Amino acid sequence: MISKSKRLEGQVALVTGSSSGIGQGIAVALAKDGANVVINFHSDEEGAADTLKEIEKTGGKAIVVKADVSKEKDVEMLFEQAKKEFGRLDILVNNAGVQADASLLEMTMDQWEKVIGINLTGPFLCARAAAKEFVAQGVQENTSRAAGKIIFISSVHDIIPWGGRVNYTTSKGGVMMMMKTLAQELASHKIRVNSISPGAIKTDINKQDWSTEEGKKQMLSQIPYGRIGEPEDIAKVAAWLASDEADYVTGATIYVDGGMVLYPSFSE
Ligand code: BGC
Repeated sequence: MISKSKRLEGQVALVTGSSSGIGQGIAVALAKDGANVVINFHSDEEGAADTLKEIEKTGGKAIVVKADVSKEKDVEMLFEQAKKEFGRLDILVNNAGVQADASLLEMTMDQWEKVIGINLTGPFLCARAAAKEFVAQGVQENTSRAAGKIIFISSVHDIIPWGGRVNYTTSKGGVMMMMKTLAQELASHKIRVNSISPGAIKTDINKQDWSTEEGKKQMLSQIPYGRIGEPEDIAKVAAWLASDEADYVTGATIYVDGGMVLYPSFSE
């Protein structure tokens, strides 16, 4: 039994896309639980600085690294920076994700490649880099029961089809099989791999939906629990999943969605 005042004490977490929204919430939550955090951003430098400020306010430690997760060279540099600064890695949260919506008939190669690159290739490159680190490190009992933890931030759209967004749903469906395959492949190395699939969480990605009365009403009609989620709803689950409290959990997808996957239109 490891006795620590904070459940992620002595651990290092890298959170991709942590300059806003869910990623920002997760970075802050992991730091509150005692982890040193690598904040990654691609274009929102100000947002990344806010995440850093928030972490430092609560006495946590973090660094900010700019990298495009869809680019192999950037990802290598990102993990090198993490290692250089903190000397180890325990937790990867594959959070960075985008939408570029268009009907099939109108979808361009740019829209397809952008979403697949960031949402699917990115998690692959980061998981590979993290796993190399975790395997080399092995289990260090005084830090965690696992050699490493990988958490994918997927979406309810890994199982709910969504017209006009075939790039996005394909990427999230792919993330589900990536997670399961890696959970199976890496278990013998004592690496835990899981997904969180958020429903409608109030962030910039869906602002055009929740910022109008009509859009909000439509959103709420899809959520049995009757409220739109907040980044903290996801962050709390991520922190638990990263901790030894979830040591026997691997290969799981946790839907954190107020019941969105329960076919709400069939409720009556
Ligand atoms: C999407 C959001 C959407 C939510 C629920 C997420 O994966 O990025 O735009 O509101 O799923 O449909």
